[in-house]
Amino acid sequence: SRRILADVDTGIDDACALIQLAGCDAELAAVTTTGGNATARECALNTLGMLELLGLGHVEVAVGAEAPLRRPPETTPETHGEGGIGYARVPHLPERLSGRSAVEVWVEELRAHPGETTILCTAPLTNLALALRAEPQLPELAAGIVIMGGSFYYPGNTTPTAEWNTWVDPDAAKQVYAAFEGLPEDRLPLVCSLETTERIEYTPALLDGLLEDAGGRPVWWSVDRPRQDGPVADTGLPVLDVLADALRFYFEFHHDYDQGYVAHLHDLFAAQAAAGVADYSTATTVVDVEADSDLLRGTTVHDDRHIWGRRPNARRVTGNDPSAVFSAFAQAAAVAVER
Ligand code: BDR
Ligand code: CA
Repeated sequence: SRRILADVDTGIDDACALIQLAGCDAELAAVTTTGGNATARECALNTLGMLELLGLGHVEVAVGAEAPLRRPPETTPETHGEGGIGYARVPHLPERLSGRSAVEVWVEELRAHPGETTILCTAPLTNLALALRAEPQLPELAAGIVIMGGSFYYPGNTTPTAEWNTWVDPDAAKQVYAAFEGLPEDRLPLVCSLETTERIEYTPALLDGLLEDAGGRPVWWSVDRPRQDGPVADTGLPVLDVLADALRFYFEFHHDYDQGYVAHLHDLFAAQAAAGVADYSTATTVVDVEADSDLLRGTTVHDDRHIWGRRPNARRVTGNDPSAVFSAFAQAAAVAVER
């Protein structure tokens, strides 16, 4: 079983990642949030609410960086809905948020369990950059690091060249990759970029299959469904209602951006990689991030051919298996609802 420290901006696909982690052989050490899809505090409340519905209400959730290192905060209600999880609503339990800051949680957890904790980042990299400053031994203290972010061959999903998590805090991303340069290969972060996460294209049919496998009623969302704000799912199981109402919003968002009535579950794949339940191929590379220009803000450039003559700082996922991701997700959901 892997011990996982997750940093999320819940977030529709982050919520899927939480369901995955709740339903597989993983132990959640704590969850911290970075502002991105919604503010860091909203993301923390969404995370806590999700965990509560998943029978993991005891897991510590700490609010992390509210703003990127040197830029104003950004959120994306058009992508993830006003509250961050589409049309879904979860209980908000502000009194249960951790008294520790995200960086305190990271540093204390990693020092208390050296070599045992895998870090999963499905949000902008602000907290990771701050934790690396507070504890430069972080790469040695962690068992591994998995990052959802970047777009190496473009197009991006936020600008023509940049992916959202990297675009929100390009300075943090640049510092993070710099911090890993020259470390042994097994210490390098695994990077799940858009090339591999946009392949995790979820559909209403897959959702209904998952709902039925998990003992819920299907919802039959379709592109013709009249749009309805707020929760309407009636699967018979609260956490599956949240999943369905969140995904209904995400299907509509992707449809409105000409991608079809589908949803790209980026963070789900990263969570499976962190939990050790995904198969993928990798290439060792050098990653750098544009943090100065407006035109190329957050663009990830990689050098597989070693033209820069720099030592590797990342392992990027080069291939994955969407159908295996979907079946592992359905299996995890079925386990998670039983908790
Ligand atoms: C990433 O951006 C966020 O909106 C998603 O949750 C995912 O982490 C994809 O670019
Ligand atoms: Ca995310």
